Amino acid sequence: MTQQTMTQHSSDDSLSTGPGQPDRGEPADGAPMVWMDHVTMRYGERVVLDDLELTVPRGKVTVVMGGSGHGKSTILKLIVGFMAPAAGRILIDGQNVLELSEVERLEVQKKIGMSFQYSALFDSMSVYENCAFPLREHTRLREGEIRERVRDILNRLGLPGSEDEMPSELSGGMRKRVGVARAIMMQPTIMLFDEPESGLDPITTTAIGKLIMEMRDNFHITCLVISHNLASTMMVGDKVCMLYKGRIIAEGTPDELRGNPDPVLQQFLHGRAEGPY
Ligand SMILES: Nc1ncnc2c1ncn2[C@@H]1O[C@H](COP(=O)(O)OP(=O)(O)O)[C@@H](O)[C@H]1O
Ligand SMILES: [Mg+2]
Repeated sequence: MTQQTMTQHSSDDSLSTGPGQPDRGEPADGAPMVWMDHVTMRYGERVVLDDLELTVPRGKVTVVMGGSGHGKSTILKLIVGFMAPAAGRILIDGQNVLELSEVERLEVQKKIGMSFQYSALFDSMSVYENCAFPLREHTRLREGEIRERVRDILNRLGLPGSEDEMPSELSGGMRKRVGVARAIMMQPTIMLFDEPESGLDPITTTAIGKLIMEMRDNFHITCLVISHNLASTMMVGDKVCMLYKGRIIAEGTPDELRGNPDPVLQQFLHGRAEGPY
């Protein structure tokens, strides 16, 4: 009897999750949140990712930077499971997503939030309806609980009182914020950002950079940011990876990259027209 009670207890403990907590289970000991292991991706004959090795450490902001057409968005599409690579493994929170059943893969995908290049809000829905949408689709929360969560997250993201606004009434920066708010309604453990600064002015870009750091610091979300914007990359990245022709050719802290003599990297960092890039 006693033993049964104890067993019951310990299994309850191991299942306990709270808001912002990593999902049930063994948040592993330094293992990366995302690991793309020898990933090759082709569109037809064209090799877009070439034996790519990319790790995204937990609880940090990782930025993949690189020019247009070098495979940045493809990385995100593979991580969210929009498509499968030609070769390699993709591990998310320790699980090889390519080996999972459909049901298991959906569970993993729930851990991932995505902020698209253009905010992708539903134009005909208010800010509130946009944010409530994923909760209505994927949870059984009651309306009062939905309202509470939406209000809390909008407040925490500096959008108090915006519930009734329509996306068309918002500035580009606000729309981006609402897109991020909607993405974190489901309390993801990973947030992916595809060129979050695109279409935004420099001041708003800085604000979005701060927002990404808030995701890390206040929501404990692991962030992977795809960017071609050097200033914001160097501001937000705990780890920065330079993607060139489908491979990571250099990685490290922003300071380590500044000191890395790789000629392609240095050309990119200095925006020089002449060079090997
Ligand atoms: N669905 C697709 N079919 C064929 N080619 C594609 C497709 N998506 C992307 N590409 C090509 O793959 C390359 C990498 O694309 P992408 O990952 O979107 O690069 P980036 O985000 O770095 O600009 C580009 O040359 C692009 O034209
Ligand atoms: Mg892209």
